[in-house]
Amino acid sequence: MPARLSDSFIESLSSSAVDLAEAVTLPPACYTSRDFYEFEKEALYYAEWLCAGRESWIPERGDYFTTRIIGEPIIVARNQAGEIKAMSAVCQHRAMLVAEGSGNARGFLCPYHHWSYSLDGALVGAPAMNKTCDFDRKANGLPAFAVEVWNGFVFINFDKHAAPLAPRLAKVAEAIAGYDLASAEGPRPEPAAKLPWNWKVMFENNNDGYHASRLHQGPLHDFVPSGRAEFPPSEPEDAGFLRFNGTLHPDASFNATQRAVLPVFPGLTDADRSRMTFANVPPSLSLVMMSDMVIYLILRPDGPESHELETGFLFAPGAMRAPNFDNLLDMNIAASGKIIAQDMHVDALVQEGLRSRFAPRGRYSWQEGAQGQFNKWLVHRYRAAHQRLGAQDGIA
Ligand code: FES
Ligand SMILES: [Fe+2]
Repeated sequence: MPARLSDSFIESLSSSAVDLAEAVTLPPACYTSRDFYEFEKEALYYAEWLCAGRESWIPERGDYFTTRIIGEPIIVARNQAGEIKAMSAVCQHRAMLVAEGSGNARGFLCPYHHWSYSLDGALVGAPAMNKTCDFDRKANGLPAFAVEVWNGFVFINFDKHAAPLAPRLAKVAEAIAGYDLASAEGPRPEPAAKLPWNWKVMFENNNDGYHASRLHQGPLHDFVPSGRAEFPPSEPEDAGFLRFNGTLHPDASFNATQRAVLPVFPGLTDADRSRMTFANVPPSLSLVMMSDMVIYLILRPDGPESHELETGFLFAPGAMRAPNFDNLLDMNIAASGKIIAQDMHVDALVQEGLRSRFAPRGRYSWQEGAQGQFNKWLVHRYRAAHQRLGAQDGIA
């Protein structure tokens, strides 16, 4: 049962969703409390579009992969008609998971009692159920989720009736059109890292222009100074928002040369090439975009103070076949790794700080505009869910 939070707690969130110059950070409990996490599942995860992976992970009919978001086991499969389908992996007999990992299959056979499901999730076989009264195979398929592919990313929605995603991402799509991410190529990411901090700590860290010139001070980052942070306006109803950070020279990239070493995405404008672009589709996808490489983060919470993070890379079509690609990529990965290590150290200690009785509702610098947009996005949905849950409980 979802935890309904008190009216006064929800009201207290409002001071985070005002203009940045007036705003304070969210209450620390939003990052630490089990009740808040349960509420947030209803407010965000069972309502919003969630990135599950890339379409290119399942190119052939019968290809599938599994994932978990908020502890929900999910299968994403390409059916025999070539369409992408998403469904619960929970067997509708006695809840065993019908698939693990990834692969290619004609369907899913539950190992426990051998109920079998098609790639669409329909129950196609259930042995020895002939004496069971009123057993309706059609009513026992795997619960189906909505699917939408955006820029090559597969999004799912637990709410089958959710409004489509793309129309609410128009501004983000326009800003990143030059990357043509649907055509971008990259390997499947390494297995997810399990990180012991709230997913919002991660999301905020990735969108924090303020810390760039401080925490990351030095030759691996100084060409992206905090003073050049820009925050294009967004509305709380939008499904995503952007952050730009101007660079001191074109085609800047994270490696010791400070410049792109891999082939540049061919459709980029001069404006694209003079900045880093951060494109966000909360709560699950964050993109870090340079001229020669896009890093994507898929965030999958599994508790109030932990989440799994998949980190993937995308490159211009054909770039991976460029001579010496692996060695050049190693240069980017070495530099990014040092920067990420600085971030992770901070993230772990922020989570510890948030548990403290003395944790603040702090004030913001103008260079934290993305935090303000994120707060507006969140609080809009928290308020709506609070009302929704109240109405379900018969609370006026
Ligand atoms: S739990 Fe899947 S067949 Fe029994
Ligand atoms: Fe950072």
